[in-house]
Amino acid sequence: GAPVEVDISKLEPGMLLTAEWRGKPVWVLKRTSEMLDDLKKLNDQLADPNSERDQQPPYAQNPTRSIKPQILVVLGVCTHLGCSPVYRKDIAPADLGEDWLGGFFCPCHGSKFDLAGRVYKNVPAPTNLVVPPYTYLSDNQLLVG
Ligand code: FES
Repeated sequence: GAPVEVDISKLEPGMLLTAEWRGKPVWVLKRTSEMLDDLKKLNDQLADPNSERDQQPPYAQNPTRSIKPQILVVLGVCTHLGCSPVYRKDIAPADLGEDWLGGFFCPCHGSKFDLAGRVYKNVPAPTNLVVPPYTYLSDNQLLVG
């Protein structure tokens, strides 16, 4: 499939937009500084906090898994069996209760991912959400693919 341009000029902090690339949803999330601080607190709850298990673009091999710290770009496809997880900024999946710092929850079999798309321990999904190839055409324009 051809690369896809994504306009992120209207993306407010905390907001997620969905684009489509090769028939798959691509999520672009603008994280707040609070969300970025929270990422650091989660490492011991995650299966692969440093994204070492799977192939990642070099620009995703950092604590925010992104080119620009604020902007997360991941495929919205669960790495278990391919369902689409849901963005849960505040409302925790039942078993995470008060500890939930926001992330993505897959309704199919209960996999959970943090706001960098990193998978929690003890869920069916084996790996972090996939970071697709992307570049910045300008501050507000992404090219995915
Ligand atoms: Fe997401 Fe199974 S497809 S948990």
